[in-house]
Amino acid sequence: MPRKPARGALITLEGVEGSGKTTQGRRLLARLRCLGLSVIWTREPGGARISERIRRILLDRRHREMGANAEMLLYLAARAQNVEQLIAPALHQGTIVICDRFSDATCAYQGGGRAIPMPTVTSLNRFATGGLKPDLTLFFDLSPEEGFRRLGRRGRRRLDRLEVEQAAFYRRVRKSYVALAEREPGRVKRLSASGSPEEVQDRVLEMVEPFLRRRGFLKTGALRPS
Ligand SMILES: Nc1ncnc2c1ncn2[C@@H]1O[C@H](COP(=O)(O)OP(=O)(O)OP(=O)(O)O)[C@@H](O)[C@H]1O
Ligand SMILES: [Mg+2]
Repeated sequence: MPRKPARGALITLEGVEGSGKTTQGRRLLARLRCLGLSVIWTREPGGARISERIRRILLDRRHREMGANAEMLLYLAARAQNVEQLIAPALHQGTIVICDRFSDATCAYQGGGRAIPMPTVTSLNRFATGGLKPDLTLFFDLSPEEGFRRLGRRGRRRLDRLEVEQAAFYRRVRKSYVALAEREPGRVKRLSASGSPEEVQDRVLEMVEPFLRRRGFLKTGALRPS
């Protein structure tokens, strides 16, 4: 069983494909490191070695026959390993963990997108994480169309298995994220992911700064230039 966090903080980044999670996660990591804070970045599915191998299975375009239940269980297996091996020990040592997607993605994609009953998703999520919940979740809100437009600009990059799904699926995913933010406004912060990376980063820091202050990570100094 993963250990309970003692002093660290788990910040998760959520949103549809191309909404800027990885771009902003990297920027946040660099900003917090600059302040001398102990912080790591990890991603889902992935992170731990076994979880990265599961990631390859999940994103493989050839796996068109993958059923919704098997898909969810693979995501959860990857998460369980990453929590146990990487996230929980880091939190225990007082480290801030930035995780690119986490349990809310399962609610949005498997619950909302694939219509797996939410009580099932919630209880399996709890099992996989050992009850670990994010302390702060940033939901990067962008229309799926705009997200895919951004990804298209990456040039050579090919769309993975999930990205070739239809538009209706992504509309359901986004709707689930919106519902999550409304249900848990204290933890899940919805922010507009449109505008330049700098503009989005400013919105991120606006959310993260009071959180870090409240949790005692920031005593003096500021995340944003005043
Ligand atoms: N604010 C922005 N405006 C325009 N383009 C952006 C912005 N932020 C990121 N991008 C670009 O859009 C693409 C998608 O961004 P990014 O990879 O950060 O999204 P993501 O949410 O991590 O996507 P995925 O779900 O596929 O991992 C990248 O090519 C990135 O450089
Ligand atoms: Mg990404």
